[in-house]
Amino acid sequence: MWYLVTGDLKHFRTGDLMDNFVINGVKGASGDISISGSKNAALPILISSLLTSEKVEFENVPKLRDIQSTLELLNYLGKKCVFAKNKFTISENHSLNYHAPYDLVRKMRASILVAGPLLARFKQARFSLPGGCTIGVRPVDIHLESFKKFGASISYSGGDVIISAKRLKAAHIKLKFPSVGATENLMMCAVLIKGKTVIENCAKEPEIKDLADCLRLMGARVKGDGTSTIEINGVKKLTGVKYSVMPDRIETGTFMILAAAVKGEINLLNTSSKNLAIVSKYLRRSGVKVKDCANSVKIISTGKRPNPVSFKTAPYPGFPTDLQSVWMAYMCRAEGKSTIHENIFENRFMHVGELLRMGAKITVTEETAVITGVDMLKGAPIMSSDIRAGAALIVAATAASGKSTLRRIYHIDRGYDGIEEKMRAVGFKIIRRKG
Ligand code: EPZ
Repeated sequence: MWYLVTGDLKHFRTGDLMDNFVINGVKGASGDISISGSKNAALPILISSLLTSEKVEFENVPKLRDIQSTLELLNYLGKKCVFAKNKFTISENHSLNYHAPYDLVRKMRASILVAGPLLARFKQARFSLPGGCTIGVRPVDIHLESFKKFGASISYSGGDVIISAKRLKAAHIKLKFPSVGATENLMMCAVLIKGKTVIENCAKEPEIKDLADCLRLMGARVKGDGTSTIEINGVKKLTGVKYSVMPDRIETGTFMILAAAVKGEINLLNTSSKNLAIVSKYLRRSGVKVKDCANSVKIISTGKRPNPVSFKTAPYPGFPTDLQSVWMAYMCRAEGKSTIHENIFENRFMHVGELLRMGAKITVTEETAVITGVDMLKGAPIMSSDIRAGAALIVAATAASGKSTLRRIYHIDRGYDGIEEKMRAVGFKIIRRKG
């Protein structure tokens, strides 16, 4: 098993690189699953610790490879991250380094979120240009163009981006696309820049609001998060904070769809479907019951083949691109044809080839996939290519007949905290096997 070797983080474990899952199809499953904290909220919130020299404490942080990578990066930059009693304590005992190196950034592109806080606090940041990944080229032009508007200059050296400024000034920025990461990077820069910064056409994802809630508790003056215009009045310094990360919206959506794919009643705890209205709507349209409660959501499914439901992915509150592959796996057994258009990333159909190996009927033309439902998928040796493609293959294998072996599940360990234990607790047949 992976251990984080730096600091007192030895209890913080995720899987090994060569692990795989053996999954047997099941007819039904029922019981309670407790949802973990949000990966995509925890990453910027952990990185916001760079904005203060005071101690911060974060709870409900999921045990994921990406969190591990973030903690390695924060330790490398000079923070001291300790994980004990399911809580992270991050302190700063000496001056920080401003360089996020290639070896750490290549593991996780969200590492570029250190740029905003480092630039704000130290007027400089250096990070390795993150490479692309299987889902797309993933440029950072929106981040860099926006930092220039704050008065920073950008240069390049040996694959690194170097951002520096004599003085930063508040700015009125209009994003060409509501980039989640760029919105978070700019928020974490503007909070320490004197004057009023406006970010127009910003991302509205719930994870943005979670970051803003945390920054406000640190003394930042942020408003408009959750709308398409955020206003920030910079302050001189931010204080330490104790904060609990929101539930993982994408893990919740993944388990809602997994529950719909088999007969039974699955209750998801410590979460809600309030940030997943469109997923609940489509699940009901596909023929399952969704019962919303304040701190849980229950899926009741007959296990019959779902009604086909088509959609285009879109920025929040549209259908999340991170659930596109999982929904496609669900539609592989639909009673009819469904069409999925991927609008956010240019190459997010890597799961299609693996689903075809299981007997799915899917055709892809550019960013559009047409799925013709079949009665039953068949288990097969399959391989995950990214976090959410891996989740889709788990859904497909679970609702298939026979056994599947799913390799490269380190992708899944990046984004799902203990997925096999959670699934086994309600009757799914999935075991982790050493590679
Ligand atoms: C965040 O990635 C999430 N990651 C992604 O989740 C999620 O899919 C994505 O937002 C969209 O919701 C985290 O929060 C850590 P973007 P991010 O900037 O910030 C283009 C998962 O599985 N773009 O909103 O990188 C970009 O290429 C991950 O948990 C530019 O062109 O996404 C993409 O096509 C995968 N230039 C689109 O915008 C830029 O400077 C959306 O990217 C930045 C982005």
